[in-house]
Amino acid sequence: MLVTSRKDAPDAIAAGSRSALGYTSSMEYVISARRLSAAAYPICPPHRITPVPPMPPLRHLVVKPDLRCTARCPTCKLRRDLHRSAQVEPQLTLDDWARILAHAAGLGVRQLDMSGGEPTLYAHLADLVRLGKRHGMKTQLNTNGSLLGRMDLEALVSSGLDRVMISLYSARPETHDAMRALPGLWDKATSAIRQAAGLHDRFPHLEIITQTLLCAENLLELPEILQLQLELGSQGTMLSYLEGNLTGEALLPQDLVEVFQGKVQPRLVAFATRLPFPVRLLARRQVRRLFSRRRLSLEEWSTAHYHDGPANCPIPREMALVLANGDVHPCNVVEYTHEPVMGNLLDQELPTLWQGEAWQAYRRHPPPHCCFCPMLDQVFVPLVNPSRTAVLAAVRRRLRL
Ligand SMILES: C[S@@+](CC[C@H](N)C(=O)[O-])C[C@H]1O[C@@H](n2cnc3c(N)ncnc32)[C@H](O)[C@@H]1O
Ligand code: SF4
Ligand code: SF4
Repeated sequence: MLVTSRKDAPDAIAAGSRSALGYTSSMEYVISARRLSAAAYPICPPHRITPVPPMPPLRHLVVKPDLRCTARCPTCKLRRDLHRSAQVEPQLTLDDWARILAHAAGLGVRQLDMSGGEPTLYAHLADLVRLGKRHGMKTQLNTNGSLLGRMDLEALVSSGLDRVMISLYSARPETHDAMRALPGLWDKATSAIRQAAGLHDRFPHLEIITQTLLCAENLLELPEILQLQLELGSQGTMLSYLEGNLTGEALLPQDLVEVFQGKVQPRLVAFATRLPFPVRLLARRQVRRLFSRRRLSLEEWSTAHYHDGPANCPIPREMALVLANGDVHPCNVVEYTHEPVMGNLLDQELPTLWQGEAWQAYRRHPPPHCCFCPMLDQVFVPLVNPSRTAVLAAVRRRLRL
């Protein structure tokens, strides 16, 4: 059985058609010393490659200092499998992180995201924040909120944390807890958002944002989710299409996408219209982008076929992702495919890897799963008007002052 689209993948898997699933041989896709073993997933058709400059600056570092997690989200299974095996390997120490962040600053990093696993399990998180700030980076914590009650969020903010992003998948406790396979998490996540918002008066620089993964379980209640996030004190929310759904088990039924377009989207636009001026303008534009008919067909949305090719993705040219075991990923999809890894920072240095042949090859030949990757399509909906300082910072960035 030849797999030519994502729709065929589950049938092919059921039929045990492994060779059909991996038609990489005809693509002659060789990316690095460690050949992509993700041949088990369907891949994009051949595409034209855009030339990239030989040595772009590294701008964005995502670190995963602790790969353990308090939850067991089914949508994170492939990542958790990878993290489970990486946890039993030697882990980076705080001294290693200090060295890595110094190198990252030298390469141009301005944004440091601390993610995981659940990063609040990491014992030296405040030290990591301080290190990032010492190098002039903007620091962000991505968390499921399960431990923020116990962890002193104020201490993290005093250490220089600039932004906290708390995931909230539903306005209904039972839906959220089922999507994260952790009973009681909704209560904790919602009080974590409230707690963070409560710090805003004393720490006006702190940004509090939320994140929601768009799945069949929660798609139709999106207006209620946004309303709740606003009431809890979120300043904006990241709405993410599902990544890593490479075998297509969690595809969205077409009729669900159609109901979203016909019934839910108008309610989202009405919600955005009730926001104050001028944020309502941007919010309205953003919610209209969700599952847009103009952008993709119903079939493409439901099979998560986001692009024809690699969409000239900038991520491998500006971002690096470092796991607690030292492995370095050139873009997000590797957390699901598990390869190719650019190298390991327990025995190599970040500048060597960033400038190395494997990464250069990855930039020239993006991975064969780009068309199923929604990284460039995620939608951020602002919920409150930006402060004067945020507007000034944006203008300065634009003008490169
Ligand atoms: C890997 S999690 C790590 C931080 C923390 N454990 C959490 O869930 O918030 C980082 C972000 O990725 C999101 N995420 C998890 N699985 C995803 C997937 N399959 N597709 C897109 N986003 C996903 C989470 O909702 C979270 O906002
Ligand atoms: S809480 Fe975050 S890291 Fe943990 S399983 Fe869920 S998505 Fe993955
Ligand atoms: S897989 Fe996704 S993040 Fe990686 S290069 Fe392609 S579009 Fe970008």
